[in-house]
Amino acid sequence: MRGLSKAYDDAPAVQGLNLEMKDKEFVVLLGPSGCGKTTTLRCVAGLETPDDGEIYIGDRLVNDLDSKERNVAMVFQSYALYPHMTAYKNMAFPLENAKVPEGEIVRRVNEVAVLLQIEGLLGRKPSQLSGGQRQRVALGRAIVREPQVFLMDEPLSNLDAKLRVHMRAELKKLQKVLGVTTIYVTHDQVEAMTMADRVALLHKGVLQQYDGPRKLYSHPSNQFAAGFVGSPPINLIECDLVDGSLLDAADFSVPLPDQFAEACGRNSTTKLVLGVRPQDIHVSTVEPTETGCIPAEIYTTEPLGDSTILDVKVGDKLLKAIAAAAFEGDAGLKVWIRFVAERTHLFDRSSGEAIA
Ligand SMILES: Nc1ncnc2c1ncn2[C@@H]1O[C@H](COP(=O)(O)OP(=O)(O)OP(=O)(O)O)[C@@H](O)[C@H]1O
Ligand SMILES: [Mg+2]
Repeated sequence: MRGLSKAYDDAPAVQGLNLEMKDKEFVVLLGPSGCGKTTTLRCVAGLETPDDGEIYIGDRLVNDLDSKERNVAMVFQSYALYPHMTAYKNMAFPLENAKVPEGEIVRRVNEVAVLLQIEGLLGRKPSQLSGGQRQRVALGRAIVREPQVFLMDEPLSNLDAKLRVHMRAELKKLQKVLGVTTIYVTHDQVEAMTMADRVALLHKGVLQQYDGPRKLYSHPSNQFAAGFVGSPPINLIECDLVDGSLLDAADFSVPLPDQFAEACGRNSTTKLVLGVRPQDIHVSTVEPTETGCIPAEIYTTEPLGDSTILDVKVGDKLLKAIAAAAFEGDAGLKVWIRFVAERTHLFDRSSGEAIA
């Protein structure tokens, strides 16, 4: 996509989107509700006409091609199966429309049914299938067409949490087996992180970052990206750079982490936001001997079984930290916290852009 833009009634839904995908890549469009994910996907599918920009599939400029001629298959959140047709017929229907010979249809549908483990369900109608089975039939219908690109719009969102986790692993595996370039839309950051080769993070129709999941997490390009990815969300703390070497957050101060020294030297701005993930705050109930620890107190604890989420109070600020499952400490307990300096993030407070 080159400079893709689309507005509805003068309200921009997608703005100047540049996005290149590699052959066979699994790219996830991620972002909050209304950020333009579905609009982007519909433009690629040919269901929506962009106001501006170009869409290429391989070497083909497809802007002026009809949806049918684009060789893409879309899977919708609602599955959109025909209720009066059997699972078999639902999958065969697009092929019949495309005048594929009968023998070929039988072969392809059965092959895909085996792949999706729905061989035994082909005679049933959608109402006789569970949500997960329906979802497989909808996927099957896309796969039998052997398209050049899969477009998937939140295909797992109607499934219960457990089945969703199961299906996301299966879908990821399947995509690699089939080797079909896929654009997958979700607002669920965990789904995006676990499934994607690369994540395109959108906010208000504008691309924020386009990177692999690890990079997106470890090097968010701005405050929005830092806040959207990671659970519990990153702690964002307003602070001022003092004497070029100290971050003063009013309730406490910490030395400027080394990785920002050079950029802060170049940059004249001193109004900053420090980002620290809960995973990168160490909490101790005994006073550590090392310097740089910040006195705090326990506000609440939330045991998760494998770990415990702590809300710690530093002055007027509440920070989230993750401690071991065995951590015990009632509200009011005095503790000391320490940030893992090399994994902290720093943003310009006015632009929100990452420093360094
Ligand atoms: N047909 C339409 N007419 C008018 N406005 C629309 C139309 N379709 C989408 N929009 C608007 O365009 C913006 C982007 O919508 P879009 O459906 O692409 O968001 P999304 O990222 O898919 O959100 P969600 O996660 O809720 O599905 C929204 O502000 C939405 O209200
Ligand atoms: Mg949508």
